[in-house]
Amino acid sequence: MPKRNVAKDLVVAKKRNNPFHLGVGLGLRREHFGSLLDLYKNQLPPEIAWFEVAPENYMEIGGKVYRDFCHLAERIPIVAHSVSMSLGSLDPLNRPFFNSLKKFIRKHKMPLASDHISFSSYNGVQFDDLLPLPSTEESVKYISKRIRQVSDILEVPFAVENPSYYAPAGAPDPCYMKEEDFISEIVKESGALLLLDVNNIFVNSVNHKFDPHTYLKKLPLDRIAYVHMAGHYRKKEDFILDTHGSEIIHPVWKLLDELASMTQLPGVMIERDDDIPPIEELTKELRQVHKILKKYPKNVFQTPELLDVVA
Ligand SMILES: [Fe+2]
Repeated sequence: MPKRNVAKDLVVAKKRNNPFHLGVGLGLRREHFGSLLDLYKNQLPPEIAWFEVAPENYMEIGGKVYRDFCHLAERIPIVAHSVSMSLGSLDPLNRPFFNSLKKFIRKHKMPLASDHISFSSYNGVQFDDLLPLPSTEESVKYISKRIRQVSDILEVPFAVENPSYYAPAGAPDPCYMKEEDFISEIVKESGALLLLDVNNIFVNSVNHKFDPHTYLKKLPLDRIAYVHMAGHYRKKEDFILDTHGSEIIHPVWKLLDELASMTQLPGVMIERDDDIPPIEELTKELRQVHKILKKYPKNVFQTPELLDVVA
């Protein structure tokens, strides 16, 4: 099965004032390697146009897992989504890591890299969690400078993701910016694209009591590179854990629908990191994404093949 011509897609997409045309994608998980490789022997599943991977999981490995990864990467576009850049940290950028990442991105012809608006290291110690920054002008300037530096090193378009968080840094100080203003200012100041996680908006809106619809309207929607969709765990009425371990719920689908009605979405993908079901089950959610996008054909990049999926 030939690989899609991403370079050609980029030329087409640039004419539409956005550098990407990704379509509907899925977070690549090792649990699915076997069934995906079986599927690719016959035909590319039409529901999946691309994969997103955490490069940290594949950069320094070899063996069968890496061979399988390469096999898939030769057949379908792959986008790099990192979790360990620690963009907001006071620690210096980890140059050896970024140099390796650049080689990995080039080797697998990845058209885009990204990480979160957060920090995950302090004094050289790396954490598993993505921690929030104080939402101040000082933070905007600091992280934006680092984003520009990372983008310059990697030499591919770069996107930043709105994170979920549980304890807001600095709140409830009224001097701090609202989350949507903070995200918007960083996108503007850094020149990065926005990787918009719709589930994170919903999770934060419940945990931190804001209106997700007002939030959506204030974002720089023309800077969206693509969208994350995921499930979560509602521990209490007013507290959600961002687990990526269950089906996407109706209010999150509704937010995607609202977003798609407002702007052109270059890509939407599903993240599933826990309690990972077979690929067939995730395909049902991918079809749901196609269905929503199909409602707004003028606003959304869709190839005829993808429209056929939900015809
Ligand atoms: Fe996400």
